[in-house]
Amino acid sequence: MVISSCSLGPSNLYPLPSSSMFKPLKFPPFWPRQKVKMGPLSVSPMGFGTWAWGNQFLWGYQESMDNELQQIFNLAVENGVNLFDTADSYGTGRLNGQSEKLLGKFIREFQEQKGGQGELVIATKFAAYPWRLTPGQFVDACRASLDRMQLEQIGIGQLHWSTANYAPLQERALWDGLVAMYEKGLVRVVGVSNYGPKQLLKIHDYLKARGVPLCSAQVQFSLLSMGRDQLEIKNICDSLGIRLIAYSPLGLGMLTGKYSPSKFPTGPRGLLFRQILPGLEPLLSSLSEIANKRRKSMAQVAINWCVCKGTIPIPGVKSIKQAQENLGALGWRLSSDELLQLDFAAQESPSKMIQNIFQTK
Ligand SMILES: NC(=O)c1ccc[n+]([C@@H]2O[C@H](COP(=O)([O-])OP(=O)(O)OC[C@H]3O[C@@H](n4cnc5c(N)ncnc54)[C@H](OP(=O)(O)O)[C@@H]3O)[C@@H](O)[C@H]2O)c1
Repeated sequence: MVISSCSLGPSNLYPLPSSSMFKPLKFPPFWPRQKVKMGPLSVSPMGFGTWAWGNQFLWGYQESMDNELQQIFNLAVENGVNLFDTADSYGTGRLNGQSEKLLGKFIREFQEQKGGQGELVIATKFAAYPWRLTPGQFVDACRASLDRMQLEQIGIGQLHWSTANYAPLQERALWDGLVAMYEKGLVRVVGVSNYGPKQLLKIHDYLKARGVPLCSAQVQFSLLSMGRDQLEIKNICDSLGIRLIAYSPLGLGMLTGKYSPSKFPTGPRGLLFRQILPGLEPLLSSLSEIANKRRKSMAQVAINWCVCKGTIPIPGVKSIKQAQENLGALGWRLSSDELLQLDFAAQESPSKMIQNIFQTK
C-alpha cells in the first residue's frame, strides 16, 4: 500500500484493508463504516485505548503479548475502528514509549501486508513534564512521538493534562506548543485531556484567537465517572463543536462484571478496586440485568452507554477476546428507559471512581 496514493490527505491517514486473516465480525448495515466527525476527521464511534500496551506496573504487560496486541489492532481496523489513543508517557521503565512504538509497528506491517482504503486516526498525548517548559520543547516531544511511530503527522495531538493546578506559568508553554505543532503541520488537529470546564473554555478561546480549532477533549467518563464536571464539560463540548473522548469507559475493568468483592485484580489496581467495588452493587446488578435481557455483555452495555451519551469511548483492550467483545458494543443502542435505569443505579451506588489528580476545574 502506498501512502501517497491515499486521497485522504496526510500520511497519518492510512488506507484500510480489503482482506485479512481475521474474518470481520458481522454488524448491522450502519456499522462498521459509520463514522462521526471530529473537526476535519472522520472517526469510528468508538476507538481503542492503548495505555496497557507497554505498562508492566499497572497492567501487567509483557513483550510476549505483542503478537496478540497486533492481532487486536488488525481486528479493530478490519472492523471499522480507525481511532487509536496512545501517549508519549505510556510504557513503564525501560518500556517508556512502547505503546507508540507498537502502534507504529502495527500500522506499518498492516500496510505492508494488507493495503486497503480509508483513514486511520492516531491520537497521542504529550505529557506536561516539569522539564518541558517552552513551546519548542513540546514541538520536540511531538517530533519524538512521530519518530517512535515513524509517522509524518499525528491525527490528534493532545495535551495530556493541564498544569493549571500546580504550575500555572507552564500552561502557556503547553498551549503555544500545541499551536506550534499545528502550524508546522505535525498534527492534523489538536485536543486536550483532563481539562475541566473552566480550563477548557480558556484554552478553547486562546486557540481560537490563534486560528487553531480545538477538536477534542478527553476526560474520564463512564457510569462510574459522570459527575457534575463531566456533564458540564459535555455541554461545553456540544456548544463549541468539540468531541468528548471518554477514557476509562469500563472503569478500569470494574464495569465488566469479571471482578467482585471476592475477586480483585492483582497489583495496584487491586488496591483501588478494594475501595470502590464493594459500593457498586446497585450499578453492577442493573448492568447485569440489562446485559442479560439484551444478550450483551456488561462491558458492551457500559461502552454503549458512553456512545448513547454522545461521547467517543476508547476502551482499553489486552486480548483478542476483549477486542471482539468490545466491538459488539456498537451497532445497537440502549433504550431511553435503559439509560435512565443505568443513570439512576449509578447515582444510587455509594462508590464513584477516583478522579485523575491532574483533572482541573
Ligand atoms: N487521558 C488520560 O489521562 C487517560 C487516563 C486513562 C486512560 N486513558 C485512555 O483511555 C483508554 C481506556 O481506559 P483504561 O484502559 O484506563 O480503562 P478501561 O477502558 O475502563 O478498562 C480497560 C481494561 O478493562 C479490561 N477489559 C477491557 N475489555 C474487557 C472486556 N470486554 N471484558 C473484560 N475485561 C475487559 C482490561 O483489563 P484486564 O483484562 O486487566 O481486567 C482492560 O485493560 C486507555 O487505554 C488510554 O488510552 C487516558
